[in-house]
Formats: sequence, C-alpha cells, structure tokens
Amino acid sequence: ALYQMQGLLLLLFKGTAQGPFTLKGNVFQTNCHGLISGDSCCNPLSMGFIKKLVEQKIPGIYVLSLEIGSSITEDMKNSFFMNVNDQVKLVCDVLSKDEKLQKGYNAMGFSQGGQFLRAVAQRCPSPAMFNLITFGGQHQGVYGLPHCPGESSHICDWIRNMLNTGAYRSAVQDHLVQAEYWHDPLNEDLYRNKSIFLADINQERAINQSYKDNLMKLKKFIMVKFLQDSMVDPVDSEWFGFYKVGQAKETYTLKESVLYKEDRLGLKTMDKAGKLQFLTVDGDHLQFSEEWFITNIIPYLK
Ligand SMILES: *[C@@H]1O[C@H](CO)[C@@H](O)[C@H](O)[C@H]1NC(C)=O
Ligand SMILES: *[C@@H]1O[C@H](CO)[C@@H](O)[C@H](O)[C@H]1NC(C)=O
Repeated sequence: ALYQMQGLLLLLFKGTAQGPFTLKGNVFQTNCHGLISGDSCCNPLSMGFIKKLVEQKIPGIYVLSLEIGSSITEDMKNSFFMNVNDQVKLVCDVLSKDEKLQKGYNAMGFSQGGQFLRAVAQRCPSPAMFNLITFGGQHQGVYGLPHCPGESSHICDWIRNMLNTGAYRSAVQDHLVQAEYWHDPLNEDLYRNKSIFLADINQERAINQSYKDNLMKLKKFIMVKFLQDSMVDPVDSEWFGFYKVGQAKETYTLKESVLYKEDRLGLKTMDKAGKLQFLTVDGDHLQFSEEWFITNIIPYLK
C-alpha cells in the first residue's frame, strides 16, 4: 500500500508551490558561525530568495545547501516517506563532519523544518546551534489538513482518512511524515504512546535530560507565528500551543501547558532568561515581506 501511495503522492505535489508537509534542508554558514535553514517548501525559488537576501545583508556570509534527496522529486518523496528520525540523524551526521560549521551556526527552519531543526538542536549538540528561528513550525503538531496541497481532492481525502484512522500504526508512523506530526487531542494517550517523533522530542513519554540541556544551550529560540495561517491547524502550534485534550476547538498556550509548567524541555527556564522570542506576521503560511525579514530576522543572524 505504501508503494502505491508513493506514486500517488508525487502527483499531489506536482505544480504545488508550497505545502506545510514537505521538507528540504539548506545549510547556511558564515565566517565566524554558520546559519542553517531547513526549508519546508518544494519551490527552490523561495529558498533561493532567502539565501540571496541573507548574503546581501550579511556580506561575507557563506551559504552551504544541504539537500535531502538528489532532486526536487526525490526531496518530495523523502519528505513524505522517510522516517523523520532518520532524516535528523542524516543531517546531524553532515553537520558533525563539516569543518566550517564546527564553531557553531544559526538555524532557520521553515514550516515543518522548524520542529525538525529543534530536534537537531535537542539531539545533536555538536557543533553548537546558536539561534534557532522557526517560521510557522508545528511544535505541537497538527490535527487536520485544512489546506491540503495539490490538485486532487481524492488524494487529500485519502490522506485525511489515513491520518484519522491509522496515524499511529507503526508502519504509518515510520513512513508517512505527516503522521509523525499528527497530534490527535481526542486520542491524547495514543499520541503520547505511539508518536515516534513529536511525542519524543516534546518529552511526552519520558524526560530525556540531554534534550533539555541541549535546547537550553541556545542563545535565542525565535518562533514566528502566521496569524492568517490556513495550512497549520491549530495555528497556536507555531508557539507551542495546542487543542485542549478531548476536543478540537479550545486551545491552550505554551505557558498553560504541562510542558512549560513542569519545565520538561527547559522552555520555562529559557523564557525566564529572556531566550524565547515570539514574533507574529499578519499573513498566511510562510508569507512575509522582504522588509519584515530584514528588520526582524537579519539581526539574529549576525
Ligand atoms: C536521549 O537523547 C540522546 C540524544 O538523542 C540519546 O542518545 C539517548 O539515548 C536518549 N536517552 C534516553 C534515555 O532515551
Ligand atoms: C498508553 O500507555 C500507558 C502506559 O503504558 C497505558 O496505560 C495506556 O493504556 C496506553 N494507552 C493507549 C491508548 O495506548
């Protein structure tokens, strides 16, 4: 069934400029410390634009691009079907071997690249990540596929159905990237027990002290939320909020969460130390202006 799905899903992304559920990595690197960017978008132009803008504003910045998969098609396939935990390992391996990154780097993750790079920060402390900036990241996952990318509503329906009925089956968890970010508030227990990626990095089952220690090493953790986001449900996930258990209407904020109150991931400590920054953009998913980026983001990359 998964093999069949693969063929279908390529079609799903054909001609789609961007979607919340794809992943592509770019690594930027500066003279003194690098800057990483995980791109969620299968349109290379958008990443190219950001890259150029950063290079223009920070003269001398060196940009290294990390590709997952050898082509856009390959990337799309991987972003749908590769186990995210394996993808994180792969990226960590590349980082640890890159001589130019050994002094540390800044990181930017777009859409699902946000929680992906947070996993890199938590699992791979060397080389050091300085600032982590997530744009529309789904830190508490998603529940719903409000704006399924692609042209075929049949496929969207099929994926929705798959996620609703089988998101936590191990075969699905291992191979369908969306399932690894699936957080069902009506089945919170199942999510906590079975989610192989998100529940793990969010310390839902147990506390891995090294995740906490490593995340707290960040100088700043900047989360950008898109107020009109039509792709991430709920939008609060971009700042670690989520639906309260048992329903899918009311949400809680990071500060109201157990994750924060028990300081399971160090976010409370970081907050008290002024390390967390919450930014908003009044736009749809990953829609921001050049001017906004220059004013609000470039300073974190210098
Ligand atoms: C905690 O995370 C580290 C880094 O990913 C891993 O090597 C270690 O096995 C984890 N510890 C536990 C108890 O799961
Ligand atoms: C989740 O795990 C706990 C502890 O092992 C168990 O008591 C509970 O029944 C599990 N729930 C589900 C829905 O799997």
